[in-house]
Amino acid sequence: MNKSGTNGLPGGTKTDILTLINHDKVIRMTSEFTRLRHQAGMTTEMAAVELGYSPRQIFRLDAGEIEPRKAVLDRMRSLAGVQEHDDRFTQFTFIDLFAGIGGLRTAFDNAGGRCVFTSEWDRFAQQTYEANHRDNRLIAGDITEIDVEDIPEHDVLVAGFPCQPFSIAGVSKKNALGRAHGFLDETQGTLFFDVARIISHHRPAAFLLENVKNLKSHDKGRTFEVIRRTLEDELGYELHVKVIDAKHYLPQHRERVVMVGFRQATNFSWDNLNLPEAGVHRMREVLHPEDGSEQAEGHFTLGPEAQVNEKYTLSDKLWQYLKDYAAKHKAAGNGFGYGLVGPDDTCRTLSARYYKDGSEILVGQGRGKNPRRLTPRECARVMGFPENFRIPVSDTQAYKQFGNSVAVPVFEAVAKAMQPQLFQVMYGGAQRLTA
Ligand SMILES: C[S@@+](CC[C@H](N)C(=O)[O-])C[C@H]1O[C@@H](n2cnc3c(N)ncnc32)[C@H](O)[C@@H]1O
Repeated sequence: MNKSGTNGLPGGTKTDILTLINHDKVIRMTSEFTRLRHQAGMTTEMAAVELGYSPRQIFRLDAGEIEPRKAVLDRMRSLAGVQEHDDRFTQFTFIDLFAGIGGLRTAFDNAGGRCVFTSEWDRFAQQTYEANHRDNRLIAGDITEIDVEDIPEHDVLVAGFPCQPFSIAGVSKKNALGRAHGFLDETQGTLFFDVARIISHHRPAAFLLENVKNLKSHDKGRTFEVIRRTLEDELGYELHVKVIDAKHYLPQHRERVVMVGFRQATNFSWDNLNLPEAGVHRMREVLHPEDGSEQAEGHFTLGPEAQVNEKYTLSDKLWQYLKDYAAKHKAAGNGFGYGLVGPDDTCRTLSARYYKDGSEILVGQGRGKNPRRLTPRECARVMGFPENFRIPVSDTQAYKQFGNSVAVPVFEAVAKAMQPQLFQVMYGGAQRLTA
């Protein structure tokens, strides 16, 4: 079948042509499914054959009448190949600060955004980012060294500024070292002000900032008050703040404070988010099935049954240490010890220190066998990254990277929930049409 439509562009159905002809004049909402279908160069009929659906179902997916299943989107993403954006389908531009491996990038890409600038200074995180987000530009390094003039104009500023100065672990460690923390900490605490200076210069239509839940209570609420004052009173943005648990989307308890801001007053409400019921997801969606129903991958899983590599099973010494440690703390009436999970459970927050002993999420293996750590692929899944996400770094780096990242579907939902108000600010309230 000819992949090209009558307009010489992928697709070629009547709706596609109308969308493209009107593109300059009419602002259209294209669903992620449709965008991926276009990027994969597939007509409605081709998508129907590929996915085992009827053309009518593809029309309904295009029109947003039915939500595509995750497996369908993953398949379409993989058929679309690269995650580079075609400007014809770009709905807004954004910059990705403190990008890590691109959790927020993935979320905002999926919501129709096109990333125009990335800053991340860790070379291993850059490696993973570049393997998954193929931009024709380099990743910028230390944000404190970057002149605002060198950052392109953008509609949304996205930043998960580092959480060390604000997290309980970071705070107690710094207190123990007798050092100040939060905004008084000269090395890390000023990074928020880099975010603020970029917002102040570029005045994007909106921003999304993300941090650990503890940010709100840090230093008796004073840290958050400085942030709020800066964003609302000094920069004049309308601010909306909510703590969201990834448990609504994934089998992981992971609470993050989400700050969404708009340059003008809007009718944004967190109700737009329509959070799915929490606690429905289970670890079986994440764990390797080990029955041959998935393909073995690298050193994570081996053999025809794709069994988890023995290297992830805890040594007798480490397992004994974790059991003794947990017993000691239980006797003293504190601490959670390790967290053992099976297919029917949800798990604790994956942290950047998971590479050390994996104690927060251990997978029980039964029959007298010691538990095991999650593989990096399972970490990618528990953070909601797509199945085709490439992991080009060592296990240690991969654990750090996923533990530092965001739960992708949470932020994809937030990015989509922001859209009506984002477009309102970008286009001065123009009515958007839906496909
Ligand atoms: C919590 S992670 C952010 C995760 C990311 N937002 C995501 O979507 O998954 C913070 C990142 O900021 C990076 N970072 C810290 N200081 C930086 C700086 N001065 N310039 C650029 N990147 C920095 C760290 O290397 C780390 O990867």
